[in-house]
Amino acid sequence: CGIVGYIGQLDTKDVLLNGLEKLEYRGYDSAGIAIRDDADLHTFKVKGRINTLRERVDDSIASTMGIGHTRWATHGGPSAENAHPHQSSSGRFVLVHNGVIENYQELKNDYLGGVTFGSETDTEVIVQLVEKNMETYQDTAEAFRQTISSLKGSYALGLMDKQDPDTIYAAKNKSPLLVGLGDGFNMVASDAMATLKETDQYLEISDQEIVLVNRHFVQLQKLDGTVVHREPFTAQIDVNDTEKGTYPHFMLKEIDEQPFVMRRIIQEYQDDSERLKLDEDIRSAVKACDRIYIIAAGTSYHAGLIGKQFLEKMAGIPVEVHVASEFSYNMPLLSEKPLFVFISQSGETADSRSVLVKIKEMGHPALTITNVPGSTLSREANYTLHLHAGPEIAVASTKAYTAQIAVLAILAVDSARARGLELDFDLMQELAIVANAMEMLTDQKETMDELVRENLGITRNAFFIGRSTDYFVCLEGALKLKEISYIQAEGFAGGELKHGTIALIEEGTPVVALATQENVNDSIRSNVQEVVARGANDIIFSIQGLERDSDAFVVPHVHELLTPLVSAVPMQLLAYYAALHRDCDVDKPRNLAKSVTVE
Ligand code: G6P
Repeated sequence: CGIVGYIGQLDTKDVLLNGLEKLEYRGYDSAGIAIRDDADLHTFKVKGRINTLRERVDDSIASTMGIGHTRWATHGGPSAENAHPHQSSSGRFVLVHNGVIENYQELKNDYLGGVTFGSETDTEVIVQLVEKNMETYQDTAEAFRQTISSLKGSYALGLMDKQDPDTIYAAKNKSPLLVGLGDGFNMVASDAMATLKETDQYLEISDQEIVLVNRHFVQLQKLDGTVVHREPFTAQIDVNDTEKGTYPHFMLKEIDEQPFVMRRIIQEYQDDSERLKLDEDIRSAVKACDRIYIIAAGTSYHAGLIGKQFLEKMAGIPVEVHVASEFSYNMPLLSEKPLFVFISQSGETADSRSVLVKIKEMGHPALTITNVPGSTLSREANYTLHLHAGPEIAVASTKAYTAQIAVLAILAVDSARARGLELDFDLMQELAIVANAMEMLTDQKETMDELVRENLGITRNAFFIGRSTDYFVCLEGALKLKEISYIQAEGFAGGELKHGTIALIEEGTPVVALATQENVNDSIRSNVQEVVARGANDIIFSIQGLERDSDAFVVPHVHELLTPLVSAVPMQLLAYYAALHRDCDVDKPRNLAKSVTVE
């Protein structure tokens, strides 16, 4: 979910709606705003997207203060009733919330017996509790503080009081929230993206802090009321990077940006004498560890699987890769000197963050690889490596994935050097070759479009098979396809399919096979024959040098370790055109959110 709040001089509707549009990637099943004019609080809520909300909002209300929310449903399905803001029974307080209140049922039972609820959400409990506490404390700031102190779980929230024209009350624990600072106005938002039009000055909010946001000042407090002083920081995001420009979809724009991202990574991670440039502390941390534990979710997890290959093969460091949400239940026996590496495009994924909190308590060091400097995972880890991919807006990750792979390769090569190992290739040169190859691939959109029309037009399901490194790219290729086209797709190790899943192959079932690794070229092609013999429609993606006549598509040659960087591009385009032909919402697929800030 995403939240935004504004108090200042401008017309609040526009600021909030524009801000929410920028936060839509965080969830988009329902949305709402509450704005305050001289007389009253006005709340507008819809099931659906921000443009639906825009149509609903009464244009005639003049207001200079308000809060808004775009939702990814957790408690209670997507509906106008369950959309935020929620209000207290008397209508005096309105609240937007991102996160999950774990003890909401308890709070409801213990303190809110006589209260009639208008929604099924945990959020309404908070706003009703503020109203209840008001009876005792007769002071909004105090009632708010008491309420926040009783919450267990995660929250980023903003509250308005009908009787107070000068304050937005905000608080944060585990879920992201920051203050945007301006001249004569101030804002709160889930991330900087929502406020870029207004400001580039921000104030960080730590967990379990409260913020009183006025037009002319902002006060941070701890839960016990102690005032906190903190220096503001400047966000370096170009507002143009958050626009689609002439592209029909962000996803296509982001696929196309990959060659530039590769070149930017080369620049950022090389010094003047063309040597790898990495923070000395990171180098020492990797050198000091005896095992790396990669923690990630979704696409970032898939990048982690490839990163493991790099770190083990090049630098000789043992690596385990774990899905963040499962790590605590299946925590492996840790080595003596573990280093945790969190891979996260957004730097906000709650599943990853909860692992970070846990391992920090255990005293282990953490490195975050992220696309968002200043994100929670970046701030809270000991070290950060930036992806330099620029804002990624489409829900399905593309350029951040390839950037993660490139940065992991840089980390591996640097670690190898730090350990005195000689490598027989120049990574930066190889990445430059990758960038050119990516450019050739993004120029072949028509071919990919055609390939999709011919092979994935009406299919219900599809399989992706590969061996060795190709297998990991298959996992990502299948995820891309299912995320945005809703075709049921699975990635399999070429040799594993015959142990069960081959039962699903029917006449015409599309099987995408990747063949970019010399040592498995023959064996993956045998697996293709196995499925073809059972009626499958094979679509083979190979690489120059390993191609055969029947291949559907051949990617340009690159260093064998870096093939995922090029084979990923046609996988992304495959998903893109499959979604397009099915009239799916490419950038905002159903049920998903880009940044999942609940566990
Ligand atoms: C969400 C997104 C995925 C993403 C995953 C991890 O589920 O829909 O596309 O891969 O989160 O996100 P992160 O920001 O941690 O890389």
